[in-house]
Amino acid sequence: MNRMSFLSMSLLLAVLIIPGTIAFGEELKPIQLPKPQLDIGRPLMQVLKDRSSSRSFSNENLPAQVLSNLLWAAFGVNRPDAGKHTAPSARNWQEVDIYVAMAEGLYLYDAKNHVLKPVLSGDIRSITGRQDFVKDAPVNLIYVADFSKTGDATKDDKEIYSAADTGFISQNVYLFCASEGLATVVRGSIDREALGKAMKLRADQKIILAQTVGYPKK
Ligand SMILES: Cc1cc2nc3c(=O)[nH]c(=O)nc-3n(C[C@H](O)[C@H](O)[C@H](O)COP(=O)(O)O)c2cc1C
Repeated sequence: MNRMSFLSMSLLLAVLIIPGTIAFGEELKPIQLPKPQLDIGRPLMQVLKDRSSSRSFSNENLPAQVLSNLLWAAFGVNRPDAGKHTAPSARNWQEVDIYVAMAEGLYLYDAKNHVLKPVLSGDIRSITGRQDFVKDAPVNLIYVADFSKTGDATKDDKEIYSAADTGFISQNVYLFCASEGLATVVRGSIDREALGKAMKLRADQKIILAQTVGYPKK
């Protein structure tokens, strides 16, 4: 191979391989969560005694098993035959989606399959709230009502019920965190327009609240 064809070949390989590598690096893959551990947890009355909001988070990541347990507690399927969940929902709409913002990207929790489905690569944690700690904590849950699931309900009913349904999920997260020694705070202080844009939400999706989860800062 002469010098010219060697150069052209190298160039061709670079064109083919380098963009492929970058695309591969950016591509977010679904995360199949391990089975939730249903035999853990402290007694309910002690957990209720310890439930609290905390705004001080370590940047340590949550292991996959902890993330799995957390999301199952939040809104996992607890009665597979009926397709029902750990939190109630008005008219069984199941209209509140849990988006999970982590350093590597944004995912959507698919409760039926207990999978995190990729939504966007890139770190949007800092946009999930107006408080500084949101960018440091490993996980920010964003509760989004999907009004395409609420049929012909009135605007009032859609808004009241989706806020209530979010509250039940959030409390499940609070109780799980209190049981497992994790820090958490539910948050309404969000620039919803900016976050909705960053998440590429549709017009019939509404951000209700967000909730930060992580290990307490030492
Ligand atoms: C709907 C709702 C919105 C909230 N929004 C925020 C918030 O944006 N930022 C924050 O730091 N705490 C927020 N909180 C947490 C409350 O400040 C907290 O629950 C309250 O101070 C009582 O403290 P405790 O949860 O430790 O009992 C919110 C709580 C609720 C229920």
